Amino acid sequence: MIKKILGKIGRAVVTTDDFTIPAHDSPLFAEINWKKLPRHVAIIMDGNGRWAQGQGAMRTVGHTAGVKTLKNILKTAIGLKLDALTVYAFSTENWKRPHTEVEFLMNLFSEYLKKELQEMHEDNVRIHFIGRIEGLPASLQKQMREAEELMQDNTGVKFNVAVNYGGQDELVRSVQSIVRRVQAGELAAEQIDETVIESALDTQGNLPVDLVIRTSGDQRLSNFLLWQAAYAEFWFTDTNWPDFTPECFVEAMVDYAGRDRRFGGLTKPEEK
Ligand code: IPE
Ligand code: IPE
Ligand code: MG
Repeated sequence: MIKKILGKIGRAVVTTDDFTIPAHDSPLFAEINWKKLPRHVAIIMDGNGRWAQGQGAMRTVGHTAGVKTLKNILKTAIGLKLDALTVYAFSTENWKRPHTEVEFLMNLFSEYLKKELQEMHEDNVRIHFIGRIEGLPASLQKQMREAEELMQDNTGVKFNVAVNYGGQDELVRSVQSIVRRVQAGELAAEQIDETVIESALDTQGNLPVDLVIRTSGDQRLSNFLLWQAAYAEFWFTDTNWPDFTPECFVEAMVDYAGRDRRFGGLTKPEEK
């Protein structure tokens, strides 16, 4: 079946260019305010299909192009010494797409892992997959587990890849795991607080999301990180994901540095 489909739409071949981790004093980072960087950035990588259709190509061509962008943005995040980068690769709603596109994407994730695994490891990246992983093809699940194990002791950027992820689904799974603990007598209902919920989420161990970036013009969350983005800043751009460059990423960082994050309080006088 897969072979037949791939015969029709072409195999997912991952190619990347030779962008390297930018140094602290790289001209790319000239405008960066190092004291006011977000620690956890989340990206809704949107617009692959529109990018491809804009040049008369099939949507899948856009997904392949998007992989290159991801690699460069991960390298930039490493250069910026971000604590975590969480990217939305496939939502619980994306199963509604044509079977051929879904198959292509699953194949692309697998190829990406195969090709990039060693380099990510050398870059000290700690990869982690979030979402309903058990709903993915068995061979992909195995690759994901192996990648996580390989990089589990790395100390660099936490790279969370959301695949078959939905914020509501994540909350459902979290509530289920907490209820099981209550039923087992490990926890009283009154003890459930924000910390308990946070530690039941797929992102446990990560800092809250400081900044959500969405490419391609739409301004919505599409079920991404509903809990984690409670106090996040948002940055939108019309640029489609395959055209999103490290310079665009830096532009978002510079914009973020100028924001006044009050968290319901008042601006501290010294920050005015
Ligand atoms: C984002 O690009 C990638 C995935 C959702 C897998 P899209 O495929 O949503 O591209 P558009 O939004 O249709 O242009
Ligand atoms: C969100 O994009 C999901 C990912 C980027 C993986 P969609 O393209 O699926 O979102 P909608 O349908 O425009 O809300
Ligand atoms: Mg889209």
